[in-house]
Amino acid sequence: MVKFNDTYVRPLINGGEYKNMRQKVSEAVDTLKNKTGAGSDYLGWVDLPENYDRDEFSRIKEAAEYIKNNADVLVVIGIGGSYLGARAVIEALKSQNYNLLKKDTPQIYFIGNSISPSSLNEIVSLCEGKDIAVNVISKSGTTTEPAIAFRVFRELVNSKYSKEEAAKRIFCTTDKNKGTLKELAEKEGYATFVVPDDVGGRYSVLTAVGLLPIAVAGIDIDALMKGALDERNACLSGDEAPLSYAAYRNYFYKNGKRLECFISYEPCMAMFNEWLKQLFAESEGKDGKGLFPVSCIFSTDLHSLGQFIQESGSTLMFETAVKFEKCENDYVIKTQEGNLDGLNFLSGENMSVVNEKARLGTLLAHTDGGVENFVLSVDNLDEYGIGSLIYFFEYACAVSGYTLGINPFNQPGVESYKKNMFALLGKPGYEDEKERLEKQLGL
Ligand code: PA5
Repeated sequence: MVKFNDTYVRPLINGGEYKNMRQKVSEAVDTLKNKTGAGSDYLGWVDLPENYDRDEFSRIKEAAEYIKNNADVLVVIGIGGSYLGARAVIEALKSQNYNLLKKDTPQIYFIGNSISPSSLNEIVSLCEGKDIAVNVISKSGTTTEPAIAFRVFRELVNSKYSKEEAAKRIFCTTDKNKGTLKELAEKEGYATFVVPDDVGGRYSVLTAVGLLPIAVAGIDIDALMKGALDERNACLSGDEAPLSYAAYRNYFYKNGKRLECFISYEPCMAMFNEWLKQLFAESEGKDGKGLFPVSCIFSTDLHSLGQFIQESGSTLMFETAVKFEKCENDYVIKTQEGNLDGLNFLSGENMSVVNEKARLGTLLAHTDGGVENFVLSVDNLDEYGIGSLIYFFEYACAVSGYTLGINPFNQPGVESYKKNMFALLGKPGYEDEKERLEKQLGL
């Protein structure tokens, strides 16, 4: 279960104001539980760790085995909620350097998450001479970035294998009944997996969206779901941790803070931070409201962003650190002859102890600088711990969003750039808009 530590924040706040905010959080929980809030059609994630489709789960495991046995490379095509969760979990549990590790699982490349031709060309060239499988993930089935990449990789698979073999190597994760991708998969005989109707992209990591690539990486998806299930049961039984966290976030927002900085002392959590940023930014950043999520890996970023946080952060931000209580892969610092670097006082010490002292030192320094710190912790950086964190943040984000008074499950702002891009590209139906925008750009 995720533990929440506010020891260093509590003395700094106005107790009465916090109590009022905590009351609002309780009302937000009722809204969520009674399904009376905006976006309540998208609450499928709440019970997902308990009610997930067991048949689909078995099919995911079978497909993952097939890919492991028949492909050197899995190309995962998707953007936003259709790739961040899978990548976050794989990097957290395997490594940022997963593809460089000696292993018996395929390389996994993520593409279709930008429109960069050089990124696309790079992945194509990395696939040369390799047996490949493709998992294209798009709930709508029409998102431009993955659609462009899928054109390329579908052609690659078709040119490399017979029609029958190619069909066995393409896996589509999309809407259950409708959409371009669903139609194409049916026509071509590709295996399909479902993004449930009532689960939005950024809440979909524990569906086939995240689970298939995660299972291909050799991660125990049963243990991941178990972590999420136990956390769900704690959250729904009224565990105080996510509620206090939601209350503090809203308290700080109301008192003028505008940024929440997610912190980890483990570099492999960098993509998890990216997943968190999408979860909170798309859920809360609307109607002119919301905390802008940013992230840091410490101590790395203490040598780049630390100066700003320490001396100019106080009016802007607070920090939410994620901590793992145990370290499974420690390193003992050795004695060096001559002690030229002066570090022999650390001889025989575990490096995790040094990391922990850096964390404590930073916590105190940033608190002194007016940047409040929470600590969220789980025991281990393993499947169970990451599953717990995923559910904790999803729940806290939804409750926090309702406390803020917005719909945490839509993302209307994501459409604006697409409209302009299509108009500028001359997509049929956008003629008037094209003229207007070109005039604005002086073209
Ligand atoms: O969280 C979201 O809803 C978005 O980030 C989507 O996941 C993203 O836009 C991709 O959409 P789709 O899966 O329809 O291609």
